[in-house]
Amino acid sequence: MTNRENFGSKLGAILAAAGSAVGLGNIWRFPIETGRNGGAAFILVYIGCILLLGMPIMLSEFLIGRHTQSNTARAYQKLAPGTPWKWVGRLGVFTGFFILSYYAVVAGWTIEYAGLALFNQFDGMTERQDFEQVFTNFSSEPFLPVILLIVFILLTHFVVVRGVAKGIERWSKVLMPMLFIIIAVLVVCSVSMPKAGEGVRFLLYPDFSKVDGGVVLSAMGQAFYSLSLGMGCLCTYASYFSKKTNLAKTTLQVCIIDTLIALMAGFIIFPAAAAADYGLTPDDIGPSLIFITLPNVFQQAFSGMPWLAYIFSVMFYLLLIVAALTSTISMHEVVTSYMSEEFHLGRKKAAWVETSMSIFLGIFCALSFGALGDVKIFGQTIFGAFDWMASNICLPVGGMFIAIFTGWYLDRQLFRDEITNCGTVRAPYFKLLIFVLRYITPLAIFAIILSNFGMF
Ligand code: PFF
Repeated sequence: MTNRENFGSKLGAILAAAGSAVGLGNIWRFPIETGRNGGAAFILVYIGCILLLGMPIMLSEFLIGRHTQSNTARAYQKLAPGTPWKWVGRLGVFTGFFILSYYAVVAGWTIEYAGLALFNQFDGMTERQDFEQVFTNFSSEPFLPVILLIVFILLTHFVVVRGVAKGIERWSKVLMPMLFIIIAVLVVCSVSMPKAGEGVRFLLYPDFSKVDGGVVLSAMGQAFYSLSLGMGCLCTYASYFSKKTNLAKTTLQVCIIDTLIALMAGFIIFPAAAAADYGLTPDDIGPSLIFITLPNVFQQAFSGMPWLAYIFSVMFYLLLIVAALTSTISMHEVVTSYMSEEFHLGRKKAAWVETSMSIFLGIFCALSFGALGDVKIFGQTIFGAFDWMASNICLPVGGMFIAIFTGWYLDRQLFRDEITNCGTVRAPYFKLLIFVLRYITPLAIFAIILSNFGMF
């Protein structure tokens, strides 16, 4: 067994976990889901999912990972030897591989857009159709999106191979605060655009008549996706936490950072979409949102100062690359640490296996915007079906079993020792947490999934 690295500082551990959580899920997917599911009411259901489902499961993943100091499948083997619980870890590894394959497609698009911004290709464009055309032409191309997908997975590969702790930690400490500042400035620009009010109202005034089973399922899926939960990703990261890390506090901090950034992304996109007359109806909202609306916003917001529009678009897309990268690294790490420790492959070989598999599957997803656009799975494109399946089914099901494991199976004293760091940190919420993990979290997830299959 190799010696496992540790994150060097508390801040490093928090920022690395936040780096996994904050990514395309916040800036690209959250606004799409909010738009499709009716705005403010969706956001409230989403926040409910974070509190009742996300936080208890994140804490569970942290404690399982930190206690066992192993990859996610081995973690269950150590805590529940000779039982089928290891399949929860294995499901996580499978989900990680699955998500990386299509996530890297959108991550590849961010490289293209950083390039377009860098070479000032948006300069002078004013019409919505211009931006739409750039996106449609690019995403339906047979080669470039595939090449960029491969580039992005290779970038991820090289960071993972070199060892996660130092690379991610050092990068996260600089880039996460930068991302936050850029997003904050963009929120201010966006909400102060003329006619932005309609977008702000869409995010603030809930219309509960729009909330049905599908909306709740999407909110739950988004919560799991955005917090990187249900596939052992944070469990794997926590295996690099020091024994002094306060797990409950870290959970709270990561959830707050992640939710704040998602909400801020909403306050960039919707007011800007309203200002640019994009409309807020579901038909207008798709995977293209940050690739069509945002470049337009940069041009409009700084129309008198083109150099500012230039700087902002370049910085935004570069930071998006980084936000996506810190997330893809965490997905890759789940599969790599599993392969290398379980099949004794060595880290480099294990990483190559995961890289090749994800590239292979990713190519089908990349082509589903063009050459394979007619291939439908349950009425959706390959990309859409992967996204739906992973976030609405695989992650919540993984999360449900994690809650059942910590709530019902795990030794109570071990649980308490981990969250109190052997009695040095207070945990007055302990009984409530156990209650939520035993009854509320698994039953809620189960009911939401069943109701979507029309079971009741
Ligand atoms: N949380 C990431 C995001 O919001 O972009 C996506 C993600 C990362 C999902 C890691 C799952 C995961 F294990």
